[in-house]
Amino acid sequence: MPVVLVGADIGGKPNFMTAAFVAITNVKPPMVACGLNPKHHTCDGIEANRAFSLCLPSADQVEVVDWCGIVSGEKTDKSEVFTVFRGELSGAPMIEQCALCAECRLVQSTPYGLDSLFVAEIVSVHARPELLDGGKPDWKKISPLLFTFPEASYWKLGDYVAKAWHVGKGYEPKGR
Ligand SMILES: Cc1cc2nc3c(=O)[nH]c(=O)nc-3n(C[C@H](O)[C@H](O)[C@H](O)COP(=O)(O)O)c2cc1C
Repeated sequence: MPVVLVGADIGGKPNFMTAAFVAITNVKPPMVACGLNPKHHTCDGIEANRAFSLCLPSADQVEVVDWCGIVSGEKTDKSEVFTVFRGELSGAPMIEQCALCAECRLVQSTPYGLDSLFVAEIVSVHARPELLDGGKPDWKKISPLLFTFPEASYWKLGDYVAKAWHVGKGYEPKGR
């Protein structure tokens, strides 16, 4: 899973938590779903503002990203850790140091056991221009931080494999 930092304002201050249970779930309109424990400090801000950000760090930011997933904004002020910028949604602080940041408007939060499913619409995406290639993310340059679970390990992006919606075209089912 790619690791993101989830940002929300709480008590007028930005707070960021690490999350890996995040997925794109729709293209038009662009939607995401995040599995977040509603007890996390960040979730108080998400519910209060009905907004949050998802910021994609690079693998070389692993130490600060891990720290944001260890300490809680309830006890430790995480508001000064990153340079924050703002977009159109109030309550969705974004991180200048991250390659890509998305502003998300909360549509629905549904409890499922330990975590809740936060479903949101992506309102806009901001990118660091030097990490784009022809207006699209250059994944080699971005080098997203990846996470495997449950043994809890961080990884970097590996080798390119093939073009999607293309490589399978010549596949011949052989039967069992
Ligand atoms: C690699 C990693 C991935 C994590 N993924 C999630 C996640 O997907 N959902 C979640 O609720 N917590 C996740 N956490 C835990 C929160 O980031 C952590 O509890 C954090 O301290 C909450 O911060 P807050 O209380 O300031 O919101 C993750 C932590 C790490 C280190």
